[in-house]
Amino acid sequence: MYESFQALQSAALACQGCKLCQTRHSVVFGAGSQHAKIMFIGEGPGENEDLQGEPFVGRAGQLLDKILTHVGLSRQNDVYITNMVKCRPPKNRDPERDEVEACMPYLRAQIEFIRPKIIVCLGRVAACALIDPNFKVTRQHGEFFDKDGLMMMGTFHPAALLRNPVNKPGALDDFINLRARLDSLQPF
Ligand code: URA
Repeated sequence: MYESFQALQSAALACQGCKLCQTRHSVVFGAGSQHAKIMFIGEGPGENEDLQGEPFVGRAGQLLDKILTHVGLSRQNDVYITNMVKCRPPKNRDPERDEVEACMPYLRAQIEFIRPKIIVCLGRVAACALIDPNFKVTRQHGEFFDKDGLMMMGTFHPAALLRNPVNKPGALDDFINLRARLDSLQPF
């Protein structure tokens, strides 16, 4: 449907497909490498992301960067990071169903262009939308699911780790296993 990733991004940046367009400062499309084998999907931009136009740049993003560095992955070169919704929900509320639905074609097109080998859902909202509506992060984090040849995993949202640091070791394990999965992929 889009002739290039650039065309997709331009369409998203002009989107008025749901009510979030009325309150956003920026459309936060995504960041990282279009050749990444791992794609991270969060919930939606927060205040800092809305102001800067980049995903995961606030405190939660800094923690995500720290964890990525810990397992030897770089935000710029090794991964692509985006969100279920590209515009900030007011007061950081959860995105509503119609907003997630309106934004889904952009996410699907991003996945089709990037063709990651592994998708990591950061937090409940993404994991419930993409892996299983009944996904329980505390119970199922770190499990890999094969969805038509695409590996998917859900883990703690970094903002949840800031609120609840007791889950940090579990999250770190997930990232260490993720790194091992990445290293075991067949080069082609
Ligand atoms: N939380 C998210 O889910 N996404 C961001 O980009 C920032 C914070």
